[in-house]
Parts: sequence; C-alpha cells; structure tokens
Amino acid sequence: MGPNDLKTYLKAKAELVNQALAGYLPEAQPKIVIAMRYSLMAGGKRIRPVLCISTAEALGVDGRITLPAALALEMIHTYSLIHDDLPALDNDQLRRGQPTCHSRFDEPTAILAGDALLTLAFQVLAEAGSDGDAEVWLQVIASIAAAAGFKGMVEGQMRDLSAEGARLDLAALQAMHTLKTGKLLQAAVTCGALIAGAREDQLAAIKAYGHHIGLAFQVADDLLNVTGDPQIMGKAVGTDADREKNTYPALLGLVESRRYANRLVAKALQAIDAFDTKADPLRAIAQYIVDRNR
Ligand code: IPE
Ligand code: IPE
Ligand code: MG
Ligand code: MG
Repeated sequence: MGPNDLKTYLKAKAELVNQALAGYLPEAQPKIVIAMRYSLMAGGKRIRPVLCISTAEALGVDGRITLPAALALEMIHTYSLIHDDLPALDNDQLRRGQPTCHSRFDEPTAILAGDALLTLAFQVLAEAGSDGDAEVWLQVIASIAAAAGFKGMVEGQMRDLSAEGARLDLAALQAMHTLKTGKLLQAAVTCGALIAGAREDQLAAIKAYGHHIGLAFQVADDLLNVTGDPQIMGKAVGTDADREKNTYPALLGLVESRRYANRLVAKALQAIDAFDTKADPLRAIAQYIVDRNR
C-alpha cells in the first residue's frame, strides 16, 4: 500500500469515525455538550479508532463491528488532550488547529468536558456489551480501562509532569512514553483483535505490533515538537524544550531519535510478519506513524 492509497484509506476511515462520533453529541445542547463536541470534532487524525478498525480487517472481519471500541478510544484520547492542555498540566493554547478547550471556554468547563468524554466512552462500551457478545466486550472494557488508568496513560502523564526539569535516563523515558501514549495505542489494536475473535498467537502478535508503534508514535510526537510546522500540526512547537520535558530528541538528538523510531517500525512490521495482505493497512500505518508531518 503506497502513500497515496494510505491517504485515501485513512480519510475514508476517519470519515466513518467522524460520522459515528457526531451522532453521540447532537448540536445545540447545554454548554457541556458544546464543549465536548468542540474538542471531539475539531479534526484529530483518528489514528486510534482507525487502528482498531484496521486490526479487525487484518483478521478478515468487517471493521465496523469494532465501532463502539473505536469511538470510545477517541473519546478517551480527546479527554486526555483536553486535560493535557490545561494550565495545571502543559498549559497549551492551541490544539487541533483551534484554541484549546479551556481557552475557548474556561477551566472548569474543560475539566468537566474531559470527565464527561471519559465517562461517555465507558457508556458506549457497556451498551455494545449489552447488544452483543458481552464476554468479548467485557475484555475490551478491561483492556481500555487498564491502558487509560493509573497503570497506563494517567501514570505516564504523572511521570511526564513530575520529571519536568529533571533528567530521565533512556529506560525511564521509554517507560514513560510507553505508559503515556503507547498503552492506549496498543489497546486500540488489542481491542480490534479481541472483537475480531483473534487466536492467541494472533493476539500476541498484534499486541507486540501495538507496543512498538505506540512507542514510535510518541517518539515522532517529540520529533515534531522540534522540527514540525505548527500550521500543519495545529498545535505549538518548541514547547517541550521550553518546559524542560524529557523527550527523545533532548536525550539522544534528532538523528538518533529518528533512527530509533525507524527501528521501532521495523520491529512492529516483524511482529505481524505472518499476517497476509489484509494486514497491509497496518503495515502502512506503522510507517506513517514515524513519517507523518502532523
Ligand atoms: C497527540 O495525539 C498526543 C499524543 C498522545 C502524542 P495525536 O497526534 O493522535 O493527536 P490528534 O488526535 O491527531 O489531534
Ligand atoms: C500527550 O502528550 C499525551 C497524552 C495526552 C496522554 P504530549 O503532551 O507530549 O502531547 P502533545 O504534544 O501535547 O500533543
Ligand atoms: Mg503532556
Ligand atoms: Mg501536551
């Protein structure tokens, strides 16, 4: 799958996700819903839902059956961005090409919009369980909760914030990135595989793929914070250095960080070596994750 095919593929999948997401938050609602919708529909890449859908398709199943999980992942991701941007955390003013939720509304609204998106995610998952195979959806819920919570993203965020101004070594940096960003991306592919009824060996391969692309994703995010174009990315650059964040470029330099990201992609591809051509989108996405400019 070449870059142009991938572009068309990602666009089609993102549109599917966007349409379904919008259905959960009708327009013209109380202020909290306006704020939730403002951040959710601001135009993120939708990489987590796409990965969930693409993994099911790699296993020969219609990706649309994963939609509740795909949407829940994007709701949780969006909540994490709203809170990440708050003055108490990264204090950012621009996200997804528009003022951050707390800049556009106010801090209490942004905190509550994040809370409400996180809660909505689990409602969507629970409802999928009562309509479908409850056993499978319980596994999905447990997987997403573990990835997002205090042994996953939240712990990663804690480490990111408490290490500002200090110097982590490479192992600690890798652990932080895996928690902060890797776990949720890994959950996206894990859930796609669970819903598609993957065999144990397939599930293990997908989890390994998810681990490597998850880490690579944050290495690329660090690199873009140094070399990216804020117009294209829709968020500020140079902020990691300003806040003395622990990042790969800060620790290893740009050249070595890029090499590291490419090595992670190679490992991700190796993990799904045994999959047939239906996994080609997953292969192309792994490469895209480190080559992207937004
Ligand atoms: C940005 O995530 C924050 C990280 C976890 C690195 P994305 O790069 O997926 O942001 P959107 O969803 O496209 O805005
Ligand atoms: C965001 O990490 C990770 C989460 C929101 C969990 P960053 O703070 O590095 O991401 P950006 O650069 O603000 O998108
Ligand atoms: Mg942050
Ligand atoms: Mg941030």
